[in-house]
Amino acid sequence: MKDTPINYNIVNEKVKEMNLSSVGKASIREIKRLIDNIEAATGQKYIRMEMGVPGLPPAAIGVEAEIEALKKGVASIYPDIDGIPELKKEISRFVKLFINIDVSPQSCIPTVGSMQACYAAFMTVNRMRKEKNTTLFIDPGFPVHKQQHKVIGIPFENFDVYNYRGNKLKDKLESYLQKGHISCLLYSNPNNPSWICFTDEELKIIGDLANKYDVVVMEDLAYFAMDFRKDYSKPGMPPYQPSVTKYTDNYILFISSSKAFSYAGQRIGMMVISDALFKRNFPDLLRFYASDNFGRAMIFGTVYALSSGTSHSAQYALAAILKAANDGTFNFIEDVKEYGEKARLMKKMFTDNGFKIVYDMDEGEPIADGFYFTISYPGFTGVELLEELVYYGISAISLAITGSERTEGLRACVSLVQRSQFPELEYRLKKFHENH
Ligand SMILES: Cc1ncc(COP(=O)(O)O)c(C=O)c1O
Repeated sequence: MKDTPINYNIVNEKVKEMNLSSVGKASIREIKRLIDNIEAATGQKYIRMEMGVPGLPPAAIGVEAEIEALKKGVASIYPDIDGIPELKKEISRFVKLFINIDVSPQSCIPTVGSMQACYAAFMTVNRMRKEKNTTLFIDPGFPVHKQQHKVIGIPFENFDVYNYRGNKLKDKLESYLQKGHISCLLYSNPNNPSWICFTDEELKIIGDLANKYDVVVMEDLAYFAMDFRKDYSKPGMPPYQPSVTKYTDNYILFISSSKAFSYAGQRIGMMVISDALFKRNFPDLLRFYASDNFGRAMIFGTVYALSSGTSHSAQYALAAILKAANDGTFNFIEDVKEYGEKARLMKKMFTDNGFKIVYDMDEGEPIADGFYFTISYPGFTGVELLEELVYYGISAISLAITGSERTEGLRACVSLVQRSQFPELEYRLKKFHENH
């Protein structure tokens, strides 16, 4: 039996029970289940860094507005598929005040989490033109987006952006786009899992190429304004959340309320389509939809078919949260800054104990401290490292499942780790370092 912080035999037993071909390659939800099982069997708490769930209470303004809406009876009424007018207006204001773009309320659509927004967008955009049926992922990325493609049979291609930062991005992107089969490209910014943030130069390259090849840019802003190196918290004042929208009209934004407003449980997010794209007509859409108009096909074709809109009460919650943020009475960034603070301290604990940060730079600048960071340990692949860390009471996910070429790495999420667990984290990392 090995001298590990968590009982070696129990971990082995629980791993066997889960019948996983490899712990290191397990999905996020499988790792979660495994760790739940080990915690229950040992009574010991893990440093849980596998799942990107908010570690903060939900925005109180939202909860109150939602209770009030429920009391008024909205639960019995189908909301409009494309959202209640109050919310559509506040989304439109939000993108004006925090990104500095003009989008009419019509093109702002609440969805069942931003996850559904992506799903709906992939479905619709890949059916716009017969010849353009493939999504390009600028990786590393969120594994579920690829899962969405697999379950409905939409082809995708991907590359790891690590070696193509700055002006190298142009040739790399163009090598895919010039083939003519790419309908859209997707990246998250800040990026899950690596927390890299694209520079303006990179966003301009993406926007210019989207214009040149008529490709829709899907910008996933799941971690809206959470690059804490800059203060994006002042409505209507620069600096604004960096975005490709400065450089192209060919865009769809996905804005999640899960992390920025800690509202993950109510599954409400936003899809913001540029007015120009919303209005465009594509005859090939008629193969699947009653209308060749993009906005109509999206709303009355795809979103209708998926879920007929999203939870009525949660729309009131989000409308109230956004209104307060837009009016400047609720500084949502202040609430989530704690993630960045924790990341700074935790990264140091890892690097003090022999670990390396895998994605460590945004071009010339050290990467921001935020919701995630990436780690490796000399001599281990990511898969091996994850399998070993489980015996030390530390859980994460392997970068191998994110489309990253840096297969030596793991993604660590800071949200669920409490500051009170820091001494234990430090102890476990020291022990790991000693034993290896
Ligand atoms: C990059 C990225 N996109 C989308 C989502 C999903 O967000 P939502 O909870 O709004 O569906 C997440 C959640 O972790 C994410 O990390």
